[in-house]
Amino acid sequence: MSHRGNSLDIPSSWRPALDAARAGGRLLLLGQTDTGKSTLAALLANEAHGAGRTTYIVDADVGQSSIGPPACVGLGRVHAEVSSLDDLEPAAIDFVGACSPVRHLLQTATSTAVMTDAARQHGAEAIIIDTTGLVNGGIARALKGAKIRLVAPDFVVALQQEDEVEHLLAPYRTKATPQVLRLHVSRAIKTRAREERAARRQRSFGAYFADASSVELSRDTAPIENGGWTSGEPLPGHMCAYAEERVACEVLHAERLPDGVFLIVRGRPDPAGLRDLEESFDGTARAVDASSLASLLIGLLGDRGQTIAVGILEDVDFRRRHMTVYTPLGDARMVRGVRLGSLHIGRDGTQLGTADVSGE
Ligand SMILES: Nc1ncnc2c1ncn2[C@@H]1O[C@H](COP(=O)(O)OP(=O)(O)O)[C@@H](O)[C@H]1O
Ligand SMILES: [Mg+2]
Repeated sequence: MSHRGNSLDIPSSWRPALDAARAGGRLLLLGQTDTGKSTLAALLANEAHGAGRTTYIVDADVGQSSIGPPACVGLGRVHAEVSSLDDLEPAAIDFVGACSPVRHLLQTATSTAVMTDAARQHGAEAIIIDTTGLVNGGIARALKGAKIRLVAPDFVVALQQEDEVEHLLAPYRTKATPQVLRLHVSRAIKTRAREERAARRQRSFGAYFADASSVELSRDTAPIENGGWTSGEPLPGHMCAYAEERVACEVLHAERLPDGVFLIVRGRPDPAGLRDLEESFDGTARAVDASSLASLLIGLLGDRGQTIAVGILEDVDFRRRHMTVYTPLGDARMVRGVRLGSLHIGRDGTQLGTADVSGE
């Protein structure tokens, strides 16, 4: 058995999971925060790699990312024994847009599936999928259930102190796949305080943006894929003026969608005015304050919709249809789309707040 030094405690209940990893296939890890998932993921990856399998890790823990920046699902290939997932360079990332899956269930599940599929396309024989510690409540059942259906793991490897993930495992009791392996949490676990996790995220973002610079993107060649902004028809001038009058603040941009109207405004729109617009446009009227776009974390997408880099939105020029983005991606010409995230980040990686600016 190959593992890093003697510092790692390997409870005897882990043995079936190590055997499964050596045999290859897909193993999805479940467990609360600080149960040793990422440590186990590295160990399983070493076992698979040591047995000669082409081995990939999907890091779907968007809050405590090891592979690629936070707010993304990362994919790493294991070329040699690793002492931790942090050793791995990302082979690909997929932008989720938040450091918690709670309000991004679809995006988290989708990105996890996309990265697992990328591993398969790269010829992976063993894929280890590490996940967030969200295990409580219906929201966890929805997320883990979706991930398991999308990823179709051969094994679900559950780390639990007591029986906290049993409710997630119940559906598989009667099925042939996935097989469930229950592992005890190591007594050698070191827990991290919430502040420590936030500091780790900041360092990770800070390192990602260390050599970044500002680039200009055209909204015509790089449309926003998850906002009402570029999915509709721009409102003609006289209708813009009408909308501006109703909401009693400056309208920088307005689009008509089949289901209503979408405004980017400066300031706070009058709620009564928005209700008027809902009647006039026979649908919903949504408005986003332009100031909430500054410092927004965004994903930059390539010509197959793949995430090529992460950026911080610095400015949107609605008249010239340009965006200024701070990103380590040197050449912005390959950017074919933008995915909005929902958190604000400083250039040093400090999290400034969260916001929903998609208008969806
Ligand atoms: N089996 C183990 N033996 C020794 N230390 C461990 C073991 N599992 C986890 N740890 C330590 O506990 C901490 C939390 O583990 P980690 O794998 O990051 O948990 P999770 O990914 O579930 O949040 C880390 O500092 C890690 O080094
Ligand atoms: Mg982890």
